[in-house]
Amino acid sequence: MFRLVALASGRGSNFLEILKAIENKEIPNANFVGLITDRENTGAEQHAKNYNIPVKVISYSNFSNKIDFDKTLLETVKELEPDLIICAGYMRILSKEFIDAFPDRIMNIHPSLLPAFPGLRAQKQALEYGAKVSGCTVHFIDEGVDTGPIILQKCVEIPENCTEKELSDLILKEEHKLYKKAIKLYCERKIEIQILPNHRKIVKIKN
Ligand code: GAR
Repeated sequence: MFRLVALASGRGSNFLEILKAIENKEIPNANFVGLITDRENTGAEQHAKNYNIPVKVISYSNFSNKIDFDKTLLETVKELEPDLIICAGYMRILSKEFIDAFPDRIMNIHPSLLPAFPGLRAQKQALEYGAKVSGCTVHFIDEGVDTGPIILQKCVEIPENCTEKELSDLILKEEHKLYKKAIKLYCERKIEIQILPNHRKIVKIKN
């Protein structure tokens, strides 16, 4: 069994889709051993409780500095001994120590076709750029912001006069399918990391 730990900051709809995929055996060999949130009373916390997943709230506002918060987060996650960490709408930058502790074992989903539109409000960025397509990306987290090796991507056409909310909804629908697919591949050991001559780490999916 693969031990999964989720990090979330909000609604948790991606987290819920993964919980359902585990429940209905789409991902047969993984279990969440914990959810960690950085805020009280998130939707993600409610989903975890409904599925009897242990929740730890490490409220950022209870810490006087980021260093102490980061230390507590790392210790808490280490105690859970995860095989894979799933960032599901987790809106903080992870520390270098955290990323070094779990090399190529932290996944994230981002609502754009990376490397386009990294960072916050990716859907708004795409609209303000006049992009005709956008989408979502599942990737491993490295030290940069949304720069890590890409695992899977899905394209979405941007309709004329689309609002940020409409585009977010279109992309979210695809996120819900893409994230569980990537986790399933990981748990089937079909994700291989290669290093290119230019030192860029990339993902190869095995058959
Ligand atoms: C999702 O659209 C996810 O891609 C995005 O936040 C939303 C979380 O929704 N994440 C980021 O922008 C990370 N940079 P959810 O809480 O319902 O899964």
